[in-house]
Amino acid sequence: MIKIAILTASDRGARGEREDVSGKVIEEMVKDIGGQVMDYRVVSDDLDVLKETMLQMCEKGADIILTTGGTGFSPRDNTPEATLSVIEKEVPGIPEAMRQKSLEKTPHAMLSRARAGTRGRTLIVNLPGSPKAVRENLDVILPALPHAVEVLKGQVKDCGK
Ligand code: MTE
Repeated sequence: MIKIAILTASDRGARGEREDVSGKVIEEMVKDIGGQVMDYRVVSDDLDVLKETMLQMCEKGADIILTTGGTGFSPRDNTPEATLSVIEKEVPGIPEAMRQKSLEKTPHAMLSRARAGTRGRTLIVNLPGSPKAVRENLDVILPALPHAVEVLKGQVKDCGK
C-alpha cells in the first residue's frame, strides 16, 4: 500500500466555485499501483498556504504527495516555488519524463514548470491542473512510483537486481 496525499492548488476550487475533477482523477489512477489516499485537500494558490500544506502532508507520513495545478506562469501560479522550498533533494527526471512524453500530445506541455523532489521519506510531484493533463502526465510516471517509494523507504539494496 502506498500512502498518497493529493493537493489541488486552485483559488476557485478553494472558494468552492469549481469542482475538483483533477483530484478525483488522481485518486482513481493511483489505485492501479496500490495507492490509498490518506489526505486530500483543495487549497488556494497562495505560496505560504501551499508550503504549509505540503509540510503537513509530509509530517503525516505521506509516501507521495501529488499536487495538481499552479505549474504554469500566470501571476497566481506558485506550486513549483512552494515545492522547491519544501524539498531537500530534487528529482528532475520525473518532470523531464512528463514533459518529454507530453510534448508528443501537445506543444503546451512546455508551459508547465512542474518540479519533483523528496523531503525525508516523502516524494512530492507536481502535475498540471487540467484533468486531461493530469491523466497524461500521471500515465507517464505511475510505473516508476512503486520503486521510488521502495528506494525512499530504504527497502532497496541493489536496484539492478
Ligand atoms: N501536459 C499534458 N500532457 N497535457 C496538457 O493538456 N497542458 C499544458 C501543460 N501541460 C497540458 C500539459 C498547459 S495548457 C499548461 S498552461 C501547463 O501544463 C500548466 O498548467 P497548470 O498551470 O494548470 O499547472
